[in-house]
Amino acid sequence: MKQKKNKRILVIHGPNLNLLGKRETSIYGRLNLENINKLMRKLAKELDAALTIVQSNHEGSIVDLIGNAPKKYDAILINPAAYTHTSVAIRDAIAAIRIPAIEVHLSNIYAREEFRHESLISAVAKGQICGFGIESYLLGLRACVSLLK
Ligand code: DQA
Repeated sequence: MKQKKNKRILVIHGPNLNLLGKRETSIYGRLNLENINKLMRKLAKELDAALTIVQSNHEGSIVDLIGNAPKKYDAILINPAAYTHTSVAIRDAIAAIRIPAIEVHLSNIYAREEFRHESLISAVAKGQICGFGIESYLLGLRACVSLLK
């Protein structure tokens, strides 16, 4: 019998998400990145997914991660953070690869300042989940796994 292969998902946290827990807590909450990663790893175990989690403050590094992802991963879960609203390079990197990317945000970007209302990423992402705090990541992870079924 063929053995079921775990789904491999690359999680990318964009700029300033390393500061979660201390940063604008009224918007992003008190959980830090480690807390979020721990909850994602727990869910990944239940869903039989293998996670690699990275955080980067650098646009070019994120572009490299996305471009190389198809060699090792089945899908990408990404919170592009501020690059959501500015990065044509990250958008083009996602458009260039053959594996799906799901975009997540802790806050509801459409309920915030106008410059956050546009996501350059959403048109090339499989879908976007925002506004649910940490739950956005967990829903995104579930969406990744069911996409890959
Ligand atoms: C964010 C929303 C972005 O507008 C912001 O620049 C972030 C975090 C979120 O998760 O809510 O850094 O992506």
